[in-house]
Amino acid sequence: MNVFSKATARLMGATALLALSSLSATAQTYPNKAITLVVPFAAGGPTDLVARLLGATMTRSLGQPVVVENRAGAGGTVATNYIAKAAPDGYTFLIHHNGMATAPSLYRKLPFNPLTDFEYVSQVIDVPMTLIGRKDLPPNDFKELVAYLRANGNKINLAHAGLGAVSHLCSVLFRQAIGVELTTIPFSGTGPAMNALLGGQVDLMCDQTTGTTPQIKAGNVKLYGVTTSARLKTMPEAPTLAEQGLTGFQMVVWHGVYAPKGTPKVALDRFGAALTAALKDPSVVTKLNELGSVIPPDDKLTPAGLQTWLQQETQRYAPVIKAAGQFAD
Ligand code: MLT
Repeated sequence: MNVFSKATARLMGATALLALSSLSATAQTYPNKAITLVVPFAAGGPTDLVARLLGATMTRSLGQPVVVENRAGAGGTVATNYIAKAAPDGYTFLIHHNGMATAPSLYRKLPFNPLTDFEYVSQVIDVPMTLIGRKDLPPNDFKELVAYLRANGNKINLAHAGLGAVSHLCSVLFRQAIGVELTTIPFSGTGPAMNALLGGQVDLMCDQTTGTTPQIKAGNVKLYGVTTSARLKTMPEAPTLAEQGLTGFQMVVWHGVYAPKGTPKVALDRFGAALTAALKDPSVVTKLNELGSVIPPDDKLTPAGLQTWLQQETQRYAPVIKAAGQFAD
């Protein structure tokens, strides 16, 4: 062995040792710095609210800050692409909803594959949606709303959070069901869209109860219906869209937590355990239930529970989106 190959061998040995020690350090000390939880929509919306609630609880149990980072854009696909390409070091996670299952059907050139490019941590919560209007929109109930929309058509502005957002999907299905075209206005999330609705700059929006419940209860917006098959315990006076004539109209928003492909198992397990514990924390459960959402059963709070559900939902949405004819490059 010459001097060069001896030095190379020593270097390789040192590198292997270093890799081994950093691996065991991960197992022993993870997490040893702040963890980023990426939200694919603007701050102040329903996804952001859930991420911040869980992040605060997880910060206490993990002993390191779980920092929420909003990376809005293209209906959630900007953040999802960011996670697909992020370093798989256990310090970057994504919380996302049905958009993970709809994006492959909505976007012709998606730069990531939700079914192969991620690690799956757990499902998070299921949230109904509400169809709401600005406080001074003339119709007072769903029947009046449909007549008003048929008469005024594209003079009505409907806010949503972009192609891939559930607020967009809900509005597409709603417009299709009543056979009316409306003017749609995209926002970076339904948080800013809600501000526009409260300010009277837009007329209508479909959004999750985690975002709309406080404004509905305060009488700041008009509620025209909920998207679940049965009425909600939190607002039993609100009829479902299905019972008001949109037979079969049902939409529940489910959320999941993902990590870049190749994230160490120790990080996935530890972050997943902290997430599950947060979802069982009585104060978190109470808050989420008050906002109309429910925590899924234990078998869904697992990597396999999320992965299997995502596969099923991706298949379920493909024909629905094809029939709706909404695509982007
Ligand atoms: C948000 O958090 O802003 C919403 O979930 C976006 C959406 O409608 O999908």
